[in-house]
Amino acid sequence: MKISNFIIKPASEFDRHAIASIHFNSLNKDVVSILGIKYLEDVFYEYLFSKVTTLSFVAIDQDTNQVCGFVIGSPEQDIYKSMILNNFLRTIRSIFVSIIKKPKNIFYFFSIFLLLFFGKGYKYLNSDFELEYIAVERKWQGKGVGKALAKIIIASASKSYKKCVVKTLVSTPINIKFYEELGFKKFLVIGNRVWLEFNFKKQFIREGIK
Ligand SMILES: CC(C)(COP(=O)(O)OP(=O)(O)OC[C@H]1O[C@@H](n2cnc3c(N)ncnc32)[C@H](O)[C@@H]1OP(=O)(O)O)[C@@H](O)C(=O)NCCC(=O)NCCS
Repeated sequence: MKISNFIIKPASEFDRHAIASIHFNSLNKDVVSILGIKYLEDVFYEYLFSKVTTLSFVAIDQDTNQVCGFVIGSPEQDIYKSMILNNFLRTIRSIFVSIIKKPKNIFYFFSIFLLLFFGKGYKYLNSDFELEYIAVERKWQGKGVGKALAKIIIASASKSYKKCVVKTLVSTPINIKFYEELGFKKFLVIGNRVWLEFNFKKQFIREGIK
């Protein structure tokens, strides 16, 4: 699919480094990015790419042939939990190194641990697909890349699932607007976390994607 001077294509193992860099540079810091680009590339995206159910696309800047954005999603509930349990020693080592470098991180990891293992959230149905991450390199933002990536993953997920769910933060109204303009509807808010859904039957199959 070609749109102006970028193209969208399915992501492959070879894009892991570029995806990890964009994740690290463009997304709000999260539990996996705080552990560094190497962890993102070798553990987190390695894990996601090893799952046959993962859907992922990259946008390629046609002038430089470099990845300028990506989207990745999965039907797996609690992706962090299973990823961490599958890579337990590597994760513990990376957390330890991160705390040595920046002792304040201990509070961050503790709060994430509480959230992951005891926090309330949305419980997926088998027919749900989660848009896990979407990010566009800063200099490419606002040029339609994010919308194109989101539309293609929604269209792909609609072949096998009933709805696409995305979680973002109440404190990022730009992201909420981005999803709402694509047709997502808010359905759950807990603290600073907000869940939006794109119901394929209601919004896509009948009316066509916005
Ligand atoms: C959110 C993000 C993926 C959107 O991608 P993008 O390529 O910048 O977005 P698009 O150019 O396709 O714009 C789509 C819509 O998003 C909104 N939008 C995107 N960036 C915006 C900005 N900086 N300011 C205001 N609105 C913005 C607009 O509503 C825009 O619609 P319009 O073109 O009709 O005005 C991108 O800005 C990004 O990577 N942000 C940082 C990472 C992130 O927060 N990801 C989401 C995690 S939940």
